[in-house]
Amino acid sequence: MNKSKFVIEGLGRKKALSGTIAVRGAKNAILKALAASILFEDEVEFKNVPEIEDVRRMRELLVGLKQNPELHRDIAERLRASIVLTGPVLARYGEVTFPFPGGCVLGERPIDLFLDGYRAMGAEIVENDGLFIIKGKLRGAHIFFPFVSVTATETLMLAATLAEGRTILENAAMEPEIDSLAGYLNTCGAHIDGAGTPTLKIEGGGILRANGRPYITPPDRIETGSFLILAALAGHDVKIVDCEPKHSAALLSLLARAGIKFEIGESSISLRQGLTLPQAVSVRTHEYPGFPTDLQATMAVFLTQAEGEATILETIFDGRFRYAEDLARMGADIEVLNPHKVRIRGPRALSAQELEGPDLRAGLAYILAATVAEGTSVVNNAYIIDRGYLAIEERLSKLGLNIKREQI
Ligand code: EPU
Repeated sequence: MNKSKFVIEGLGRKKALSGTIAVRGAKNAILKALAASILFEDEVEFKNVPEIEDVRRMRELLVGLKQNPELHRDIAERLRASIVLTGPVLARYGEVTFPFPGGCVLGERPIDLFLDGYRAMGAEIVENDGLFIIKGKLRGAHIFFPFVSVTATETLMLAATLAEGRTILENAAMEPEIDSLAGYLNTCGAHIDGAGTPTLKIEGGGILRANGRPYITPPDRIETGSFLILAALAGHDVKIVDCEPKHSAALLSLLARAGIKFEIGESSISLRQGLTLPQAVSVRTHEYPGFPTDLQATMAVFLTQAEGEATILETIFDGRFRYAEDLARMGADIEVLNPHKVRIRGPRALSAQELEGPDLRAGLAYILAATVAEGTSVVNNAYIIDRGYLAIEERLSKLGLNIKREQI
């Protein structure tokens, strides 16, 4: 692996960024769509694919699966989305072997919902030497998820597509990436009803055919949101293009409440800043369409620069405040009240530091923190950011940020 870091010259309180920045295809959509290619008899073409590290890992896993229905252990142990492959592989080949999936450390990330789902669909599970071996011909089942899970919804939806009979998934996740995938699969012969609502009904059937129809990756709403927050913090005239504004409704409503002014176009959002300080707004993360946990760390950076006191309540994960200590080192007034709640008082001037993001999204939040800090910061471990954001330094440079990648 090529080791690199980002060096960022902070702007302090100057609102210096301007220009246009384009949003790329959504990581958490393309990873699942690639996994779904297992359900097809013919080739599937993918468009608007971000060439990020996680997409490369998923491709490597798919290549490995051509030999046998077993996920490459080292890769799967580093990529949470690898679990999504288990549904289509099991449904198509009647068996799958995989390790406990890795990915960003955000607290507990169990896989009980997947295993319960496979059992309900008639599969047998054996755990041996850290590997799960699942076998069986899948049949439709009525599954109620005790918690809302994005990847469990996607995985069982994909498994059900080739299972025999009808599957009902209740308390399903409603993320737009699920809707995008179901819509595409339906054009290729699947029968999935209710994507984007809490109840999915899937009539299982035969193998799917793309017949030359491409999957078009929808815009990344987390990237959109991160750019919006960056523009609110340090921009004076920034336009975010190639995005889907309605997927950012929760963030936009909070930014509006904070006093940020923006204009919404069909596939763009423009921010024009006045000189007034944004006001602190409290945040509660929630499954879509609520405020995304993946924007929680970036929003914390925003709140360090807003006037007043606010809390962030993290309801999805129980280990997602690992960034708080680093922001405090930079001068933020941030206190972790418990594993689900932080309190932030602002505005506070931040000073440059050497940083290393504890996870992908916090990594990007550090780039934002470094942008509003005084002085030159270093954000180590660029790889963790490259997992989800394509050539971020090139894109942010175009807005006028002095950010460089340096090899270590
Ligand atoms: N959960 C269980 N059992 C399970 C599965 C999940 O208890 O079998 C719990 C989790 O512990 C968590 C909650 O359910 O408390 C919700 O987690 P979910 O399963 O929805 O998360 P995920 O599917 O593992 C996806 C995204 C994450 C994003 C979350 C929440 C992918 C590959 N990952 O993860 O994205 O934070 O949904 O929206 O789609 C990222 O992109 O950086 C990222 C972490």
